Amino acid sequence: MTETESTPIYPLDRLRRVADAAARAANAHNTQPWDLRYRPDHVEVGWRAEYALGPSDPSHRDLRLSLGTYIESLLLCAAEAGMALRFEPDYDATAARVGRIVPGQWLEPSTRSVADVEARRVWRGAWTPQQVPPAVIGRSLKTAEESGFRVAVVPTDAARPLLVRAYHWFFGHAGIARELLAWARLSPRHPDYQRDGLNDVMLVLNKAEAAAMRMFFAPVVYRALRPLGLVRLLTTLSSSATSGDGVVMVILGKGNDPASEVEAGRLVTRLWLDLFRDGIYVHPQSHVIDCPDTVGDLTRVCGARDGERPLVFFRVGYPATDPSARPRHPRRERAGTTSA
Ligand SMILES: Cc1cc2nc3c(=O)[nH]c(=O)nc-3n(C[C@H](O)[C@H](O)[C@H](O)COP(=O)(O)O)c2cc1C
Repeated sequence: MTETESTPIYPLDRLRRVADAAARAANAHNTQPWDLRYRPDHVEVGWRAEYALGPSDPSHRDLRLSLGTYIESLLLCAAEAGMALRFEPDYDATAARVGRIVPGQWLEPSTRSVADVEARRVWRGAWTPQQVPPAVIGRSLKTAEESGFRVAVVPTDAARPLLVRAYHWFFGHAGIARELLAWARLSPRHPDYQRDGLNDVMLVLNKAEAAAMRMFFAPVVYRALRPLGLVRLLTTLSSSATSGDGVVMVILGKGNDPASEVEAGRLVTRLWLDLFRDGIYVHPQSHVIDCPDTVGDLTRVCGARDGERPLVFFRVGYPATDPSARPRHPRRERAGTTSA
């Protein structure tokens, strides 16, 4: 069946507009892995294997989180466009599916808006010393609890040694370095610069730094320099990602159910949009969870109990320069849509 022969839950053009707006959702490496499959009475949400990361996301946790951020953004954009939809989880790895969007009841009115979905962006630059107010932290804890998760709040000071170790592991991993280069668009001349991936502006690189990254991550140079201190150098160059005061929030979940990682991704969008409305920015840093040498310590630092494990790690705070001066991440045209 083709899209045009089906009778979708809402007119396709309206659904597509909402799907396009939701493609502003945060997602690992900006691969935009989501795939919407339009069926007669629902829209299946899945992923495209070519947009799933490999060594940088060994358990595909970030993939499922990114699908969750997208689903939550989509539901929010749909509600604002007058469409009452809900997500029905139905995880199936073989079918590359996490569930379906079906007609639903009206969502509770929320302060989260499409304008926030459009404007939200990651912050990878320097931070001011200003502290996140306790009331904002309290609200985040409550939002997490209402979603069936717990947020641990860790001072950046306590997280820094783990972050530095994790960066060292990250930059020393040849597969991760290869994948980072594959998704980096270090010059506007890159053919996919306007499409996806991590561009020089998003990575807060000036021209010289972008050229250095292109050189250092080229496989021959990387192999030659890795034993000669390249990893330490790259870790030092990432110091803005590990320095400063403030706090880190860690979403903790129980068990290993992949579907709960999708739900945690939905929570990421809720937390992130709420923080964004307060002028607070976020920098997720997944490698602290993926690095075998830091995940145990992180679990302890978070005071995890009863089988809780860290699912998402993100630094929160106030950017030292104006993030809105930076363009939003590029999106693919008609991102991730296949006919049924
Ligand atoms: C699950 C998840 C994991 C992420 N991990 C990292 C990370 O480890 N380091 C990082 O700099 N950004 C990370 N990000 C941020 C994404 O790279 C960013 O959302 C994406 O490039 C789109 O940019 P935007 O958020 O500014 O729209 C992550 C985002 C998500 C949703």
